[in-house]
Amino acid sequence: QPSPLVIANWKMNGNRQLVQQLAKVLRESQADLTEVAVVVCPPAVLLPAWQQEVFYDAIHLGAQDLNEHASGAHTGEHSLALLHEAGADYALIGHSERRQFYGDSGQRVQAKVDAVLSYQEHLFKLVLCVGEHEQERDAGRTIEVVQQQLEEALQNVSAAQIAQVVVAYEPVWAIGTGKTATPAQAQEVHAFIRQWLVQRFGAAAQQIPLLYGGSVKADNAATLFAEADIDGGLIGGASLEAQAFLEICRAAQ
Ligand code: 13P
Repeated sequence: QPSPLVIANWKMNGNRQLVQQLAKVLRESQADLTEVAVVVCPPAVLLPAWQQEVFYDAIHLGAQDLNEHASGAHTGEHSLALLHEAGADYALIGHSERRQFYGDSGQRVQAKVDAVLSYQEHLFKLVLCVGEHEQERDAGRTIEVVQQQLEEALQNVSAAQIAQVVVAYEPVWAIGTGKTATPAQAQEVHAFIRQWLVQRFGAAAQQIPLLYGGSVKADNAATLFAEADIDGGLIGGASLEAQAFLEICRAAQ
């Protein structure tokens, strides 16, 4: 069994005050959170503020996105070296909002995956986000869409590198809508992802954490995480409320 993992994706929300608030709650609950790894992905400019709060091993920091180049004329972008310096050792890649609104094509997602895996050995873990739109689900194409996203993004990845990969299944219709996938709907896709990964990368892929994301809240987290192939969650809205996020982390253990 992969170890439980819960990731907060703040998106373009939060501020220094919320950093202190959530960090305080997590710090005070440290003793209760020994079985779950927790990662916080704030807007990049808040990483240094988080870095000051996080002085214990249980909490990791992550980037919501990255630029695949090492440096240069890329106005507005962040390299892995900068993100690393600001405390991140996780990176989300291919979030549906980036794919839909900020030009992250399948090819660009693949370039970002390759950049993380070729950046200083094993330093970053990448969280590859996949998921179908509502019309694709309605047309019965969910598995096909997810498979294509996995194939394209992980095209150049070797079996030796797979230990650095986490996959997050986020059905687009469930993101920020309050319409959570049912545990059975999510498990069906997770089981497919697990099977695809094992077929492609071998038995080591059994250990890859598979996260569900899309309207995970304190009151539905436990039933989702109880499914065999759901190892944790990628949390948007509820990660902005310290108590709710804490309960979700507890539910993953
Ligand atoms: P919500 O939890 O707000 O639905 O967002 C999910 C998500 O997109 C996390 O990356």
